[in-house]
Amino acid sequence: MEHSNQKGQWGSRFGFLMAAIGSAVGLGNLWGFPYKMGNNGGFAFLVVYLALVIFVGVVVMLAELALGRKSGKGVIAAYETLGRKYKIIGWFGWISPVLILGFYCMLGGYCIKYAIANIGDLFNASWGVAGADSAEFFAGFTANQVESTIYTLIFVALTMIIVQAGVSGGIEKFTTFAMPALFVMLLIVIIRSVTLPGADAGLEFIFKPNFEVFKGTGWINVLASAGGQMFFSLSLGMGIMVTYGSYMKKEEDLQQNSLIIPLADTTVAVMASLAIMPAVFSAGQDPAQGPGLLFITLQTVFQAMGSLGPLFGFLFYVLVFIAAITSSISLTEAVSSAIMDRHIEKGKAINRRKIITMVGIFVALEGTFVALDGLGANGFPQIFGQSTWLDSFDLVSEGILMPLGAMIMAIVFGWIKPAYLDDEITYGGREYKMKKYFHYSIKFIAPPILLLVLLGQIDTFFKLGWFS
Ligand code: PHE
Repeated sequence: MEHSNQKGQWGSRFGFLMAAIGSAVGLGNLWGFPYKMGNNGGFAFLVVYLALVIFVGVVVMLAELALGRKSGKGVIAAYETLGRKYKIIGWFGWISPVLILGFYCMLGGYCIKYAIANIGDLFNASWGVAGADSAEFFAGFTANQVESTIYTLIFVALTMIIVQAGVSGGIEKFTTFAMPALFVMLLIVIIRSVTLPGADAGLEFIFKPNFEVFKGTGWINVLASAGGQMFFSLSLGMGIMVTYGSYMKKEEDLQQNSLIIPLADTTVAVMASLAIMPAVFSAGQDPAQGPGLLFITLQTVFQAMGSLGPLFGFLFYVLVFIAAITSSISLTEAVSSAIMDRHIEKGKAINRRKIITMVGIFVALEGTFVALDGLGANGFPQIFGQSTWLDSFDLVSEGILMPLGAMIMAIVFGWIKPAYLDDEITYGGREYKMKKYFHYSIKFIAPPILLLVLLGQIDTFFKLGWFS
């Protein structure tokens, strides 16, 4: 079946890689990984993380890319090709990005705000942070519903404009210049960070092996935390790699790409740790994770850097903005591609512009609600017992649907239809170098690890203390 996709196709291998790595490199790398690594055993955590990437991440990545390219479809229709009852996995993989977009766009909007505020500081303007306490500045911004909604909507609009321009004309074009730019900016920030006085305490925090955390049942905790991080960071379990795979050319080597993307993502995660933690320790701050790290701790660090601080602050928030938008682009494409499939099925001409506009309006509504909640600052009712709307959206997607969907997927490709993807992986007579490793891992290693990730997420969101 030659499907040279009606919805679009990557123009080059590099373009595809930049889009896929752009999806993988996101807020998870920047605000999750450095802290988790430091807090869960340092170098020992990195080793566990790498093992999980190799035995679960790469394998699930290969399966998703292969399924996408084989079917040439978006996530729902792609799983449907396995049989009607498997469509549910596709639905899980479609609902998750819809939910994640709601809060991801708000956070992306925050990055724009902070990039601008740092320019303000560079010129001593009143619209900068202007020496305010960064915790208070952040609290003031999140509680300002009008301002945070506006920034959220700007981010939504930018995402939609790029995605509207098409797979190769929009997504690929943007990520091909944005990702190398991100890389360079990250290097600059690393050089500044590790040369600050007292930076070694930060290096020690991230790298020094700590085997204490593995004691007793502690190792389960480390494994669950590394697994959850790995999974989110690689953009797996939510139809993105299926969708991006469906735009790949048949002559591309799926096995090689399934190695490169996780390798690049992990490299950037370690680089982010080098950029962030030395600076945090140098400024005498406590390491943290989540929005607090990005918008309070680091802003304090930039303010403590002296006259060039705002310049590094600006560079850093632009870098985070790029990481975020290349991810929100992939989330949007995954959601929209499945809708386009429906139009194709019904024999209608696909109108990308119109579909993306509709998706954009929906995401704008979601984002507005999440922004109005202001990370719980504005007294909104709690959903599913979570203190912020961001967490409620995240619970359903990252907490449940993603690991659950991927676990079922691994069981299907491991046990029920083990040969389903083989012809696609070896298309055109390509040597099946990863055959044994792929079959073994997806059968025996991925399902139990994904179950652990699922339990670990439920444990974390509901603070059940199962593993501690
Ligand atoms: N991988 C992105 C990150 O690390 C987040 C993301 C998850 C993006 C799922 C798209 C889909 O932040």
